[in-house]
Amino acid sequence: GVNKKALHLEIYKKAARFYYYSLQLKENEQALEYFHKRGITSDVIKHFGLGYAPAKYNILYQNMKREGYEDEDLLETGLFLKSKKNGMLFDRFSDRVMFPIFNLNKKVIAFGGRILGEGQPKYLNSPESLLFDKSRTLYGLHIARNEKHPYYILVEGYMDVIAMHVAGFTQTVASLGTAFTDGHAKLLKRYTQQVVILYDNDGAGKKAALRAIPILRSNGINVKVLQLTDAKDPDEFLKKHGADEMKKLLDEAESHIWFRIKEIESTYHLELPDEKVKFLQEVAKLIGSLESSIEQSIYSEEISQKYQINQDALQAEVKKYYQSEA
Ligand code: UTP
Ligand code: MN
Ligand code: MN
Ligand code: MN
Ligand code: MN
Repeated sequence: GVNKKALHLEIYKKAARFYYYSLQLKENEQALEYFHKRGITSDVIKHFGLGYAPAKYNILYQNMKREGYEDEDLLETGLFLKSKKNGMLFDRFSDRVMFPIFNLNKKVIAFGGRILGEGQPKYLNSPESLLFDKSRTLYGLHIARNEKHPYYILVEGYMDVIAMHVAGFTQTVASLGTAFTDGHAKLLKRYTQQVVILYDNDGAGKKAALRAIPILRSNGINVKVLQLTDAKDPDEFLKKHGADEMKKLLDEAESHIWFRIKEIESTYHLELPDEKVKFLQEVAKLIGSLESSIEQSIYSEEISQKYQINQDALQAEVKKYYQSEA
């Protein structure tokens, strides 16, 4: 109910404060050092409310008990786990730098916690709860929505959002991990008509982009894709090349169609006639799935030029698939 939500919000707020102040303590300087090494200044720490969960078994729990909260409520927030040995609660997050996740009202509803070095899991996230619905939450949206933006940028991770915002791209949000849902698309649609997908430069990122495209498209959002080449993610790219280079690439981001055509192309040997036919049939199917016949005709022309195929023949193939799903 409403009261329970308010109680959980209060507990999350206190937890966020606790983690934030823990990060400032001398005894936890290795955590602050970790952020500094990654180029995250004190201003950025403040802006995103970053923190540190100390390497102590139940220090947050003890704090919450001193404040008078009941075990049952604390457990429900997802901030604590129950020991199988003695039934006592202990902190879910320990010795991790903490990224609070905010709702649209700028209230903390969850956390992501990163290990300070190597190790598994790299990130630990709050479980879903009364407050936190993963498939309706986008990291960074509480800031992005403060201003109007001609397009939004979709990245994978916490550090990518932060680095992009610091570089001036405050329209950047993350679906946290790789699962982009219809709920995320509906949320974005409230703020923008166009999204540039800027996922990691690896197989998982590519796969995730291919999955996100139809979800965004079916919600009426125009989609472009920017694939980085010499950096593994936007955070790393910005460190290497800076904001101006990023802006250039964003301006040149390709339409989702060309991204998908290149993906299809990579599975065929176009120098073999049989394979080229199959490839073009698959491309025709993709073009046929576009709702606008103007778009269809524009892409047909580009494709017929690029792959040296008669445009009427391609159009005839496209018609076969028109308004089928792809
Ligand atoms: P990445 O593995 O690409 O990490 O995961 P990253 O964001 O580049 O992190 P750094 O730069 O090494 O610190 C992308 C996102 O996937 C989610 C997190 O949201 C992460 O930011 N993730 C990743 C998890 O939830 N758990 C994991 O163990 C790993
Ligand atoms: Mn990745
Ligand atoms: Mn990274
Ligand atoms: Mn990454
Ligand atoms: Mn070949």
